[in-house]
Amino acid sequence: MGQNLNPQKIRASLVTPALSLPTTFVQTQITNPGKYFIPPLVANIPNDKFGDMVRLGRHIFVNTQKYAKRYVGNGLNCTSCHLQEGRKPYAAPIWAAYGMYPMYRQKKRSVVTYQEQIQDCFIYSLDGIAPTLDTPEMKALVSYSKWLSRGVPINVEFPGRGFPHVQRSQDLDPKRGKIIYETRCMMCHRKNGQGQKNKNGEGYMFPPVWGSDSYNKGASMQRIKTLAEFIKGNMPLGAGFTLSDQAALDVAMYIWLQDRPKNPKKSFIMDFFYPNMSH
Ligand code: HEC
Ligand code: HEC
Repeated sequence: MGQNLNPQKIRASLVTPALSLPTTFVQTQITNPGKYFIPPLVANIPNDKFGDMVRLGRHIFVNTQKYAKRYVGNGLNCTSCHLQEGRKPYAAPIWAAYGMYPMYRQKKRSVVTYQEQIQDCFIYSLDGIAPTLDTPEMKALVSYSKWLSRGVPINVEFPGRGFPHVQRSQDLDPKRGKIIYETRCMMCHRKNGQGQKNKNGEGYMFPPVWGSDSYNKGASMQRIKTLAEFIKGNMPLGAGFTLSDQAALDVAMYIWLQDRPKNPKKSFIMDFFYPNMSH
């Protein structure tokens, strides 16, 4: 049960997320050990110019709030959704994504590059602004992604990519979802989904799941199915794959109904500056 978990043990980077980053971290339990790709250790980042870029990328990934501040509009980090520094299978791990791009995305009705996918996560998931390709932030995130994917063949779908599949067995019911939220999620994500800030007031210990500091209405997480899939594989934190598919869908619908920042695509300004960034 989520109630018995010590979140600081499960997520090492929670301890002092603002400044020191862990060099080792506790792995949450994964079904079928040995089945998934194991990315290289942080200690093995090369000590050269490329390694410096990888380190910066990791910092941005884990603490986007601080290291890519100018592009973020809400309270989240990349690791809020791509858990364990982008390593965790079924939390859209970075090593399973990198070699798959450029790829055709139905949602965009076009071929999307890896960098464009990152830009989308900035605009929608982080309710912010897309870094352009020549920025240190973008170069660092791509360098980190390439480093993390060492040994993964190009264009091969790996187990653990994206999120697990969920199947509904009956109609979704936000009333059941509310009960699940209150019993399995609220101790961390709090009443009104607003999350819980770190003691020093900087950033979140537990990120908000709705409200003004959450992802916006254009984000992939704002699709009930995607949200349910993320929840199924990863929540409650440290106890992924414990909710039934139906429970994940019900709680996803409950969260989907709540208020959050609007889809920037629907405003004139964004259409003007990012004519191709439509969802
Ligand atoms: C609010 C949650 C959230 C945050 C925060 C977030 N992402 Fe994502 N990201 C997603 C979701 C959901 C998808 C899956 C999109 C889809 O399949 O439609 C995704 C997809 C991706 C992918 C492609 C994964 C694949 O398998 O194709 C990459 C790469 C990525 N994000 C990078 C980032 C980076 C870098 C950041 C931080 C700058 C970030 N994301 C922040 C939710 C998030
Ligand atoms: C033990 C604390 C804990 C519990 C319980 C928990 N979460 Fe989370 N949740 C987290 C943390 C921490 C993160 C961010 C992951 C990270 O930073 O490593 C997160 C991330 C998320 C995210 C993506 C980021 C965001 O803010 O939108 C969603 C959605 C989410 N949780 C939903 C849920 C749901 C639904 C439940 C109940 C079924 C739940 N969580 C239970 C701690 C928890």
